[in-house]
Amino acid sequence: MRGTANTWCLEAVPGHRGADARLPDAGTRFSRFSLSTIVAAIYAGGSPILGALMQGSDAGGALAGAELPQRPSIARIFDYYLGGSSHFEVDRGTAEDLTAVLPNLRGHVLAVHGFLRRAVRYLVSSGIDQFLDLGTGLSTTGDVHGAAQRADPCARVAYVDADPVTVRLAERQLHDVRGVTVTEADLRQPASVLTAPGVTSVLDFTRPVGVLAVAALPFITDDAELTGVVAAYRDACPVHSALVLSHLSPVTATPAQISAFGPVAARVGATPAWRSPEDFRCLLDGYEIVEPGLVHTTKWRPELGDAAGLPVDAGADTYSAVGRLASRESTGPLRLTLP
Ligand SMILES: C[S@@+](CC[C@H](N)C(=O)[O-])C[C@H]1O[C@@H](n2cnc3c(N)ncnc32)[C@H](O)[C@@H]1O
Repeated sequence: MRGTANTWCLEAVPGHRGADARLPDAGTRFSRFSLSTIVAAIYAGGSPILGALMQGSDAGGALAGAELPQRPSIARIFDYYLGGSSHFEVDRGTAEDLTAVLPNLRGHVLAVHGFLRRAVRYLVSSGIDQFLDLGTGLSTTGDVHGAAQRADPCARVAYVDADPVTVRLAERQLHDVRGVTVTEADLRQPASVLTAPGVTSVLDFTRPVGVLAVAALPFITDDAELTGVVAAYRDACPVHSALVLSHLSPVTATPAQISAFGPVAARVGATPAWRSPEDFRCLLDGYEIVEPGLVHTTKWRPELGDAAGLPVDAGADTYSAVGRLASRESTGPLRLTLP
């Protein structure tokens, strides 16, 4: 697999610093940008909604009269749980209300991100150097390319999210990060995602790709649609590609907690679906599931570190797995049906 060398890194990027260049830690890189700086720069382009965000930012508002966001965003709620600064009162209030229902929710988010970083590092170490991150969110933008490029400075990442505000912020955060693009697209439309310039400009689908579907699939509530969408990405990828999967799933949550969670979570505009591992194992059809299998998220290769201080038996309500495409025979011919 490594025989198909990634020449992009050395040949196509002006000013590339070489394969042993030291990239700054993603957290360090992002700390140069406050939310208000990012949003102010975007606001200069005249976006009223981002102007509203600026007024509501933690750094204080500079735009009197702009409206604060009325609806919380799941990406900003994740950012809040992860200790970021890209969130507002409406996000924090909903996050606290969700925590009142599910006290371990912050642990859940930490567990998911620890898994995400472990899985990315694992895949880089096994030869994958390009990633398609579906449902990127905000803080994730630092996690995936940071984890990948620390392991391989030539690694490339195409981030995809449907939320325009999230995408604008991520674009600002990442505009000078080489090998990384951000695309506004609906992951439920694989043909649009896979042909988007931001995706095709950094990913080479003749070489193995790591498709990341982490904490975004619960927002596709129709089981048949979800299965078809995930299969479409699988079928667009060549042998040795991978699927990194993490899904909201009851571990310690009781039925009463799950039903109380729904109406609060719905404030973000969609109620995420809870699925048991048995319910979504079929998303890995066609893949060879990497050891230790589809497991409680903190139990996926904890020896790789990055457990965010969580014990392996932490009660985070999420299951995760990594699958590898061992052969095309198992998945059918490579195909991509364009609209
Ligand atoms: C829980 S958040 C962040 C997930 C991120 N992967 C992480 O681990 O932090 C889920 C993200 O999925 C995005 N999302 C939800 N439905 C989507 C869709 N149909 N297409 C693209 N993005 C979507 C949301 O905008 C949000 O940013």
